[in-house]
Amino acid sequence: MAEGFRAEWPMDLGAPKTSLEAKQSRPKDIGLDVPSPSRYYSREFMELEWKHVWPRVWLLAGVTPDIKEPGDFTLFSHGHEEFIIARQQDGSIKAFYNVCPHRGNRVCLVEQGSVANFSCPFHGWKFGCDGKLETVTEEKTFDPALLKHRPGLTEVRCGVIGGLIFINMDGKAPPLREWIGLPPGYIENYEIENMNVVRHVRSEWMANWKTGIDAFYETYHLPHIHPQTQGVMEDYSQIDLYPNGFSRMIVPIGVKSHRIADRATVDPYQKFMMMEAGIDPETFDGSAEDVRTAIQKSKRARGKQFGLDYYDRLTDGQLTDSWATGYFPNVQIGMHPEGVFIMRFQPHPTDPERFYYDNMTMFRFVDDPGYTTPGWMGLPKDIDVTGAVRPEIEHVPAGIRPNLGEVLDQDVELVAAVQRGVRSRGFRGPLWGEQEDRLRHFHREIDRLIASGRKS
Ligand code: FES
Ligand SMILES: [Fe+2]
Repeated sequence: MAEGFRAEWPMDLGAPKTSLEAKQSRPKDIGLDVPSPSRYYSREFMELEWKHVWPRVWLLAGVTPDIKEPGDFTLFSHGHEEFIIARQQDGSIKAFYNVCPHRGNRVCLVEQGSVANFSCPFHGWKFGCDGKLETVTEEKTFDPALLKHRPGLTEVRCGVIGGLIFINMDGKAPPLREWIGLPPGYIENYEIENMNVVRHVRSEWMANWKTGIDAFYETYHLPHIHPQTQGVMEDYSQIDLYPNGFSRMIVPIGVKSHRIADRATVDPYQKFMMMEAGIDPETFDGSAEDVRTAIQKSKRARGKQFGLDYYDRLTDGQLTDSWATGYFPNVQIGMHPEGVFIMRFQPHPTDPERFYYDNMTMFRFVDDPGYTTPGWMGLPKDIDVTGAVRPEIEHVPAGIRPNLGEVLDQDVELVAAVQRGVRSRGFRGPLWGEQEDRLRHFHREIDRLIASGRKS
């Protein structure tokens, strides 16, 4: 076995306690609850989430590279709600409900852009990028008493950490930094603010949003649903639970699954990964066990070569592995040095058995032909990765494959089949094993919020 890597359960990559990679101890009180499956399909549970969960949590609303200049804005839709996230003249970011105070029309109907002010399409009232009311069309036809509070766009709390923009609808929620259960530096070290969205796909899936989350929160299903990953990915992940429902699984990449008996022969996909990292697989004289470490060494050197100082803040493991990080409640980000893969599981406004799987692929462009987008991004060939142009969102209706690669295609089918099963009278509730601790942690936090909301 290559030094520092052993695939045993429970998986522990052996990082020192002071490292962001350190295995977190498993909570003793994690329990063995088997919740009712109705949470996956009932309208009652959906309403409880609308009442007690969604308004109280910090939601990932966008990324700072999408709104670089004053006047740049992006929309964020979340169920019934829609928000305008806008860069201000002083460089700060504000967020508003995308609702006109006059008659409730959506003020902004395009998903992203740049404006001097927002003009409501219904009767032409104008609002500054700071949300303040600028002009009321034919104001003399209104009694001044009606408008004396100068109604502007309703602001919503907004905060930024490491290039990620969050909003919160609840005035009483804790500040963003307190809410984020991850240690300081965890997000910031990747410098997401210097990456760009190079692809954005929003597809509609026929399942509850939590059925979607559950399928992406464990690697227990890999050998069964995605057996093709075994040549290059370990399916025992290091599972780490953080406060406030946050969690992580470190998926070791560049290694064969412990299920593969042949530990010597280098897998074709390992060869491909070596090429991406600047190693010639034909002259490589190590075994399959040595590949992950070799890639880490090569990437470390390339970080220096290309002046990527932030690589210095990443562990060797971070250079190869996916730190699939759960941002409670509805986001997982696959975090890699070259870029990040953001998955948002957006609830459908009215149907508990549909959700939107919203993906942003972000890449830090390096102007050198030897530094390319990694294969895991699965980007179509003609995509511009320089960041010069922010791509339009590709909207994919239910029933159409989102073209995000073979693994995601397998997940689309899987998640729909699970949804059909969990609403059966024959299903008594999920029996989560230790490899599914992140699911247990996530659902418990949902339950905690609902219980505390009901009490208050
Ligand atoms: S609803 Fe916006 S101006 Fe009338
Ligand atoms: Fe999967």
